[in-house]
Amino acid sequence: MDALELLKHDHRMVEQLFRDYHAAYSDEQRRGVAELVVRELSKHAALEDLDELGRLLDEAKRVAPTRPHPHAPEEPPALTLAAPLAAAYDRIRDRLQRRPRT
Ligand SMILES: [Fe+2]
Repeated sequence: MDALELLKHDHRMVEQLFRDYHAAYSDEQRRGVAELVVRELSKHAALEDLDELGRLLDEAKRVAPTRPHPHAPEEPPALTLAAPLAAAYDRIRDRLQRRPRT
């Protein structure tokens, strides 16, 4: 199950728990279902922070250098300045050498 499927599955499960809450026969049953909803929504919210992280990493990967730069700075602020320049240089070289674009 990929991340998106997992999040959709969680949504369906919580929707079912809300139906269970309304169909409960007693306050004790409703309290038990409510505890499950809180538990599942808490876990789900944490997974959605991870999903955002994955999206940010994917965006960063699209503009990252495509070749190794062993002598490039490793720490900001020099890295912040060097990485986009290296990435632009790499992509120009990739085009001139007809390397596959990803
Ligand atoms: Fe959600």
